[in-house]
Amino acid sequence: MISITAFTNEKEVYSVTGEEQIGTIRLMDQEEVENVINEAKEAQPYWYSIDLYKRAEFLHEWADQLLENQEKIAATISKEVGKGITSANKEVVRTVDLIRYIAEEGCRMHGELMKGDSFKGGSTSKIAMIDQEPLGVILAISPFNYPVNLAASKIAPALISGNAVVFKPASQGTLSGLLMIEALLETGIPPEIVQTVTGKGSEIGDFLVTHPKIDMITFTGSSATGQAISLKSKMIPLVLELGGKDPAIVLKDADLDLAAKQIVSGAFSYSGQRCTAIKRVFVHDEVADDLVKVIKENIDQLSIGLPEEDATITPLIDTKAANFVEELIDDAIRKGATPIVGNKREGNLLHPTLLDNVTSDMRIAWEEPFGPVLPILRLNSEEEMIEYTNDSEYGLQASIFTKDVQKAILLGSKLNVGSVQLNAKTERGPDHFPFIGTKKSGLGAQGVRRSIESMTRDKVFVLNL
Ligand code: G3H
Repeated sequence: MISITAFTNEKEVYSVTGEEQIGTIRLMDQEEVENVINEAKEAQPYWYSIDLYKRAEFLHEWADQLLENQEKIAATISKEVGKGITSANKEVVRTVDLIRYIAEEGCRMHGELMKGDSFKGGSTSKIAMIDQEPLGVILAISPFNYPVNLAASKIAPALISGNAVVFKPASQGTLSGLLMIEALLETGIPPEIVQTVTGKGSEIGDFLVTHPKIDMITFTGSSATGQAISLKSKMIPLVLELGGKDPAIVLKDADLDLAAKQIVSGAFSYSGQRCTAIKRVFVHDEVADDLVKVIKENIDQLSIGLPEEDATITPLIDTKAANFVEELIDDAIRKGATPIVGNKREGNLLHPTLLDNVTSDMRIAWEEPFGPVLPILRLNSEEEMIEYTNDSEYGLQASIFTKDVQKAILLGSKLNVGSVQLNAKTERGPDHFPFIGTKKSGLGAQGVRRSIESMTRDKVFVLNL
């Protein structure tokens, strides 16, 4: 059992199955949060004064420490957020690779030089040297579903660019996040630079996001919380990675075996608890029967069970989440959707559910379940598929399955989403690609270079020769 501190104001953390107490976390109050923010603010200029290559060395050392502690961290992720142990291990290794890439990319950010005479009336005697300065203290708020990877994807770019960090992990996911920070502190990095804040959102959430010494917020989580942050934060840059309702668009000429395989992997890995999960299928009527058949065959292959059994479909993060998914399934069936497979619940374990003949009046056509349910909407034209995609309040990603690449690019250009995947599932990685959400799916951009850019600002020195 992981016990971080022995403060009286603590909360017990249980495994996702609720059977085992796996640790305790400290519930900080506003005064404690105030202190850590002040420490971070004071220490940040020193951190920025350290040579960039030395900051990069700390990050490489952090990656080494994570690898050394991989087994322990992966086991904690698996218990705490209910991820199969293979996926939990992959999360740690993916994070190691990401941190190393960020360290290297940070060292390649060399600023820019602009000549004055490229503007009409300008002169060769004016030259701008443009450097990138850190913003100051970055508030990094991570979600439960990637408690290590999505935390590091915010902390590492902040550090390499000379910022201090205040890190607030999701409540369920805190123990994994804290182990990751322990590994970082093992490198000998000044501890004031990376501050972890744990506690109840209701007690410290608003205090954090409105604090005048927080210079930028990077958040991954629900659209509702993201919107609340954007309303409350005061004139500071925000990067928000929020919900999604990513469609898989399957055209008449698609390779249906490939499409089904990708769709099932995209929709059901980690029980659909991913912002980028495929959350609805728009299929041309003519090939719908065949597609549904192969999707069902692929779903039948999914393992269902407990995280320690390394199953793909595991209990959802909590009862509220499971109730919500069930509610969406019930609504669709009541309104005439055809359950093809699944629709079975054991506690918070929901069997992977495929719903055919879903129509636009059903909530599942529009709402994000964050669970293992996939609706099929049979449509007649590409125009309709574009309309259904763009009518969503979300705009994260979309997949298009067709053998006609030109058609896919033309169609994709009409979709109001951050990324379009051709003949593959929707997903964030590889992690250095830009990652963007439109509408309620997000604000700003992530991906290694974009993340670093979001945490720095241009500083212009004009040389008048
Ligand atoms: O849940 C949001 C994550 O950014 C999704 O990442 O596509 O690698 O699962 P992923």
